[in-house]
Amino acid sequence: MANNRRVKVGVVGCGGICRGTYMDNMMYRFNVIDVVGCADLIDSRAQYIADKYGVKKMTTEEMMNDPEIEVIVNLTYPESHFLISSEAMKHGKHVYCEKMMAPTFAEATELMRLAKENNVVFTTAPDTFLGAWEQSARKYLDDGIIGKPITIHAQCTSHYAPDTPFFDLEPRFFFFPLHYGGGFPFDLGGYYLHEMINLLGSVKRVSGFGGNLEPHRVYTNPHHPKYGEPFEVNTPTTLVGALEFECGAYGTFHISSDSFESHSFVMTGTDGTLILGDPNSFSDHITVHRNGANPERESITPGQMPKSDAGKPATGEDDNQVLGEWIDSQAIQLPILHGYSDSSRGVGLADMCYALLNGRRPRCHADIGYHAIEIIHAILESAKTGKTYEMTSRCPRPEPIPTSALSATAQEATLDN
Ligand SMILES: NC(=O)c1ccc[n+]([C@@H]2O[C@H](COP(=O)([O-])OP(=O)(O)OC[C@H]3O[C@@H](n4cnc5c(N)ncnc54)[C@H](O)[C@@H]3O)[C@@H](O)[C@H]2O)c1
Repeated sequence: MANNRRVKVGVVGCGGICRGTYMDNMMYRFNVIDVVGCADLIDSRAQYIADKYGVKKMTTEEMMNDPEIEVIVNLTYPESHFLISSEAMKHGKHVYCEKMMAPTFAEATELMRLAKENNVVFTTAPDTFLGAWEQSARKYLDDGIIGKPITIHAQCTSHYAPDTPFFDLEPRFFFFPLHYGGGFPFDLGGYYLHEMINLLGSVKRVSGFGGNLEPHRVYTNPHHPKYGEPFEVNTPTTLVGALEFECGAYGTFHISSDSFESHSFVMTGTDGTLILGDPNSFSDHITVHRNGANPERESITPGQMPKSDAGKPATGEDDNQVLGEWIDSQAIQLPILHGYSDSSRGVGLADMCYALLNGRRPRCHADIGYHAIEIIHAILESAKTGKTYEMTSRCPRPEPIPTSALSATAQEATLDN
């Protein structure tokens, strides 16, 4: 137990996510975090946070040289992640960095090296895999609800078309598609990859296709000041990867900002199927399809269709409908067993602080972020070479969080071990 000691942190990057979620959670939700100061390239942003929360406005340099500060919380946009995290490590600070840790695998590799060389703890977001539905899914899986995992499918597609009057007018916006390291695969892709690793562990081999489908684009909204002008996209926009997990399961990772909206996250096993939630959210439903869920129904035996409700064998044109109804009848929404069901960004930082105090491995250890970046890198490499990519990194599954009946802020006790 941490005996009420608190870890002093300095926050670099006072933009959207800092203002929107992190500061409230760091100041009022997690007792173990003690925010000393904040810094930003844009002075007014740091001033706003300093005034609102009563913390010190500092320069990044002051923060790096402040012996009181143990952890640098890097909430800058991805292009600055490498600079801030590497500086912090060189100053002997532990680092918690928002996603993804770096825009390239080479930079991520250098950060992992620097963390080791400077003997500091390095953790990375997203921490949503510590959320309520994600941890509950992990428990159900580990308890054997679907038997041995066989496949996982993650699909998230959308369209970042330059057809709004405000497209790219905030050019540093974190998922701005012109910047390498931005874009859908790095932004939303990270959430799916982290949850897949949380559930199934390391990936061994990757094959993939995709890349930047259309580098030359044009502003298409007449209300936009650059209407009709061309621009270049400099980041992968569509990736489809086939993943072989070390545990023997297979996965597909399908992510695109070139098509229309879709979301699907499904895991199958020898005894059932789990329909998973949105890994960008701490709260969602989990559903299981499983034999025995509805005992009065017949199960399908190979070569035989299920019987309809009236007990007659389903035949002809209605077969698919009956089969669909039968599958639906086996679906059960599972109770959520864990805390952190609301907007809990920063729970990974709180966990890291307890890890530092209690001398254990943090759940958001940078191994997971590094492994996720290597998977994206692997898909791009495989697409280029036409060959299967052998992963070089490995990541143990993070320790699960215990189930919690603790109320509100008392849930923090689940991290204090
Ligand atoms: N906005 C969201 O909804 C959201 C959600 C989850 C995660 N994130 C992650 O949080 C991070 C920040 O996102 P955001 O939306 O807050 O971005 P943002 O652009 O609103 O804020 C980033 C801030 O960092 C500052 N900054 C950049 N480089 C700096 C440097 N070298 N020194 C000091 N300050 C610097 C910028 O001035 C800016 O104020 C990203 O990694 C993003 O992936 C954002």
